[in-house]
Amino acid sequence: MSHMRVAVFLYMTIFLLSLISFPGAAGNFISDVDIKWGNERAKISNAGQLLQLSLDRDSGSGFQSKQEYLFGKIDMQIKLVPGNSAGTVTAYYLSSMGPTHDEIDFEFLGNVTGEPYILHTNVYTQGKGNREQQFYLWFDPRTDFHTYSVLWNPQQILFYVDGTPIRVFRNAEGARVPYPKSQPMRLYSSLWNADEWATRGGLVKIDWSRAPFVASYRGFAADACVWSGGRSTCSAASKRSWWAQSLDSTGAQRLKWVRKNYMIYDYCHDVKRFPQGFPPECSLSD
Ligand SMILES: *[C@@H]1O[C@H](CO)[C@@H](O)[C@H](O)[C@H]1NC(C)=O
Repeated sequence: MSHMRVAVFLYMTIFLLSLISFPGAAGNFISDVDIKWGNERAKISNAGQLLQLSLDRDSGSGFQSKQEYLFGKIDMQIKLVPGNSAGTVTAYYLSSMGPTHDEIDFEFLGNVTGEPYILHTNVYTQGKGNREQQFYLWFDPRTDFHTYSVLWNPQQILFYVDGTPIRVFRNAEGARVPYPKSQPMRLYSSLWNADEWATRGGLVKIDWSRAPFVASYRGFAADACVWSGGRSTCSAASKRSWWAQSLDSTGAQRLKWVRKNYMIYDYCHDVKRFPQGFPPECSLSD
């Protein structure tokens, strides 16, 4: 009997250690995030493997990562609000704090049944955004979980959908564009009412008879440099995998395919908005 106990004890110890020593492995919402908004509208289930946000007439809901990161590769599988999600927005983003904050945004703008979601993206550096790019997706994001990722290293920020790069924001400090490299960011996600603007520019309102609206999350993985005590620490494995990663030729081809077939807006092509010339980072984009 005591052999059994020792074996079980060792097994448990090894299991627990494995959780600690592989930060890139899929996380657990119970230990990795805090529900910050909406009370019981945000629910964690399946022993921490599933998180669901909901929105009703009274409130939306949201969560944030417990940890802050300075550079990293963050993955999340999301299944967006099914059916008629017009007027809802599901935001999934990294952000630092304060008036000169940095931010890397995915926002999913809902639509009526059968019409496409829009994936809206933006990058803020030192408090300044206005760098929108928007896309349709090559699948319906309400029927299944898909993986949405940010790869953020000192040279560039890459946005991925199911491993396909959809956007790159390159470090353009050489052209005096600030780059996010010193403020730690947390991961945030929320589901809220944005029917003032989200669907067909605000023309389509939320159908409250369909509430509550629910978005589902699983597979949160942060292979990232964790901020603590005023500095960030990266594992050697992280440094090997994404720290120096940039688009390879396959990635560049995929990005081109997305931009050609699914992009609906790029601030870097909006002549009306920038009659005096495009922002300097635009010469490094795509
Ligand atoms: C919703 O569907 C309409 C009609 O197909 C489309 O013009 C619009 O871009 C779609 N998405 C959003 C978020 O408005």
